[in-house]
This record gives sequence, C-alpha cells and structure tokens, in this order.
Amino acid sequence: MDFEQELQKKTEMVEHIIKEYMPRDAAFQKTVVEAMEYTMSAGGKRIRPVLMMSSYELSGGRDKLIEPFMAAIEMIHTYSLIHDDLPALDNDDYRRGRKTAHIVYGEAMAILAGDSLLNYAYETAVKAFDLLESKYAASAGLPDRGSEELRNELRERKQVEQALAILAAKPGIYGMIGGQVADVELTGSVLNEEQLTFIYENKTGALIEASMLIGGILAGAEESAIEKLQKVAYNIGMAFQIQDDILDETATFEELGKPIHSDEKNEKVTYVTLHGIDASKKEAERLSKEAVSLLNSFGPDAEFLTELTGYLIHRKN
Ligand code: IPE
Ligand code: IPE
Ligand code: MG
Ligand code: MG
Ligand code: MG
Repeated sequence: MDFEQELQKKTEMVEHIIKEYMPRDAAFQKTVVEAMEYTMSAGGKRIRPVLMMSSYELSGGRDKLIEPFMAAIEMIHTYSLIHDDLPALDNDDYRRGRKTAHIVYGEAMAILAGDSLLNYAYETAVKAFDLLESKYAASAGLPDRGSEELRNELRERKQVEQALAILAAKPGIYGMIGGQVADVELTGSVLNEEQLTFIYENKTGALIEASMLIGGILAGAEESAIEKLQKVAYNIGMAFQIQDDILDETATFEELGKPIHSDEKNEKVTYVTLHGIDASKKEAERLSKEAVSLLNSFGPDAEFLTELTGYLIHRKN
C-alpha cells in the first residue's frame, strides 16, 4: 500500500461527502450559512472523518451509513475551531490559511456559525436513519419478510442510536467542551500532570475517540475490539495535541495556516512548555508506538491506520 496515495484518496472521499451534506438553502439566514461554508471549505486535514472511515473499514464496515457521521464529526470539529479562535478564547486571526470567521463575518456571526455547525452536525447524523429506511424499504411491507432481515434492521438501528449517543456526549462537558473549559480557566497557571492530561484527553482526545468509536460501533465490532479502538484513539489524541503544541513553536505560519506562537501569546502551559521540545517528541513517539502495537493485534487490515498513526506525529501542519 502506498500510504500517501491512500491518505489522499480517503481525504478526497471525505471532501466529497462533506460537500454532499453541507446546507444549501438559505433565506434570511444566508450570512450564517456562508460563514459555515467559509470555514468548512477552507480545507483542514480531515483527520477525524478519515479516522472514522478507517476504523469502520477495519471493523468490517462497507456501507454508506458511516457517511453522515463522517460529515457530522468534521462539522463539530470545525465549530470547535471557530469558537476556539474567538477573541474571548485564543483570539487568533488565521485558520486553515484564511482569516478566521470572526474577522471576516464579525463575532456575532462567527458565534452563530459555530452554533449552526454543531446543530447541523446532528441534523446530518440522523440522516443515517433515512439511509436505513431506504435500505430496508423494498422488503419492509412484504408479508414473507424474513425474520433475519428484521433482526438485521433492528441491529443496525441500535448501532446508529449508539453512535448518536457518542456523537452527543464526546463533544460535550464530559468531553471536548470540558477540556476547553479547563484550558481557558487554567491559562496562566502552572499545570500539574493531572490537569494537563485532563485538558488534552478532553479538548482534543474526545473527538478523536468519538471518531474511532463510531466507526467500530456502526460496523458492529465486538465489545473487546471497541475497547481496543478506544485505547488506540486515546493515544492518537494525546500525541496529536502534543504535536500541535510542538508545531506552535517550531513550524512556520505558511505551513500551519494558523498563527504560530499562539500558545506563548496566550500564556498557555502546554506539554512543550513543561517538558521542552525533545521530551515532547519522545512522549508523542511513545504514545504513538503504544497505539501501533494495539493496532497490530488487528492484523494486516490495520496497515493504513498504523501508518496514519506514525504520520500524525511527524506531520508538518
Ligand atoms: C486543530 O485540529 C485543533 C486541535 C485539536 C489541535 P486540526 O489540526 O485537526 O485542524 P484542521 O482540521 O487540520 O484544520
Ligand atoms: C484546541 O486546541 C482544541 C479545540 C477544541 C479547538 P488549540 O487551541 O491548541 O488548537 P489550535 O492550535 O488553535 O488549532
Ligand atoms: Mg485553544
Ligand atoms: Mg487555539
Ligand atoms: Mg494549538
């Protein structure tokens, strides 16, 4: 497998799916729909939907049922970025190579665009029920409908419900928002390991975990496999944020498409400020290796995810 080529192929599929699910119609809400589109279409690595799709495929999933969830997780992630950049939070002027939403559309519209993306994520994810409806529509009314098919439909409905529950919980106060709250409130103070870990596993880890969990759940993976996927995602998430902190110090603005030294400007205590660049690289490496060794237990089908895990801690943006 040519990893780079495969990643590109998957990213293009994600772009296509996002386009398909973004809102089109607008009357007097036109400005907010434009602001949503502005940040969504600016690119971004699309890592969360790629992780979701890969975890789904690894677990044997081969259906379109995953697609509304892939679009939804990227909408939630993008909302979190729009709000993270607001003057009240990190006060950053660039994102994904463009001026941030609040610079272009004003703060009120940026707040509303974030809210709208969060809400629209759920409007999108529940479309999985429509997909199920059409999948089983042909046989639904037949008197001789087999009990096996009925069982399959019920099982798939249950999986969509479980996936929705994850999509509702992980971005919330016991997930991403919880991490952002601690990140904001503890700014300027010297963090202990427990606080730093809490921030990373929630502000960044939670959405990455949601992505991989939803992939496994929708594919009907067994409990033990789901648990393993969660551990893999946890490690990927922690390493991902450490690399983000490293890049904030070592990358260029052109590479990142967002301001460098944002953490320093905001007096953020990060893994890098606490331990230095070298130790941070080592820790990202350690977390990543642990994820890879868990992935190895899935056999050769995990090759793409294994490569992706390594790629993410060496990424340049
Ligand atoms: C940035 O996420 C915010 C963090 C959680 C570190 P990404 O690095 O995935 O941002 P995009 O989506 O590629 O712009
Ligand atoms: C943000 O962490 C995590 C989010 C929930 C958006 P950062 O504040 O470090 O993300 P960047 O560096 O602005 O992308
Ligand atoms: Mg932040
Ligand atoms: Mg930020
Ligand atoms: Mg950062």
